[in-house]
Amino acid sequence: MVTLSVPDTPKLYGELASWFHLLSSPGDYAEEADFAQSLLADPARTIPATLLELGSGGGNNASHLKAHFKMTLVDISDGMLDLSRSLNPECEHIQGDMKCLRLGRVFDAVFIHDAIMYMTTQDDLSRALETARCHCKPGGVALFMPDVIQETFVSLTTHGGHDSTTGDGRSIRYIEWTFDPDPSDNTYTVDFAYLLREAREPVRVVHDTHVFGIFPRDTWLRLLKDARFEGRCVADPWGREVFVGRAI
Ligand SMILES: C[S@@+](CC[C@H](N)C(=O)[O-])C[C@H]1O[C@@H](n2cnc3c(N)ncnc32)[C@H](O)[C@@H]1O
Repeated sequence: MVTLSVPDTPKLYGELASWFHLLSSPGDYAEEADFAQSLLADPARTIPATLLELGSGGGNNASHLKAHFKMTLVDISDGMLDLSRSLNPECEHIQGDMKCLRLGRVFDAVFIHDAIMYMTTQDDLSRALETARCHCKPGGVALFMPDVIQETFVSLTTHGGHDSTTGDGRSIRYIEWTFDPDPSDNTYTVDFAYLLREAREPVRVVHDTHVFGIFPRDTWLRLLKDARFEGRCVADPWGREVFVGRAI
């Protein structure tokens, strides 16, 4: 048993939120957003459907999906909501936790992209699916896009980063190390080392550990059923498995 001692909120969504688009830029999401739209859209509908995104982060997916849906974006981090507002001023933004949010209204569709990875126990995952169900109209669709499930996990190291185009002199380069310290439990870690350059200041290095949840396909399908979704697993074009639920 490996015990991890990491803060609940990754620095990326707190003190570093304003840097997020240099790590993960809106343009990088165009293909994934297209894929999501193909699963969320109802071809029979003539007026734009309403779409609730939980854990909407920097609003990168939304910057593409908003052309097709009237979107409401929910995130737990005020800093990330501020960033998303700057990119998607026409979307509604609400601060909330996907584990317990109750807006008291329903949407044509609900979407949780990679933010679902922050559900690190079965109970958390089940609460997030229940939140999605409570906000999805009967017959509506919910789409969940985990980065990995237990069957597709691989330990890997990647790197990336972008330079700001706004003239503020900011740039990031990072390495990202995915590792599972204890394959018998429902979590793994993603450690980031960010190199942050700001105008003429010396480059700063920040280490940030993200703890992600990982569950087998059968658990996903069972929890979807428990949440009153008719669920199915779909392979995406990038070798991942995502989950589509029709609200019963
Ligand atoms: C990787 S970012 C999402 C990026 C997003 N896919 C986009 O298109 O920009 C993950 C987000 O999940 C949010 N998050 C984590 N736990 C959450 C929770 N319990 N409820 C709502 N948002 C949460 C974080 O604040 C962060 O903004």
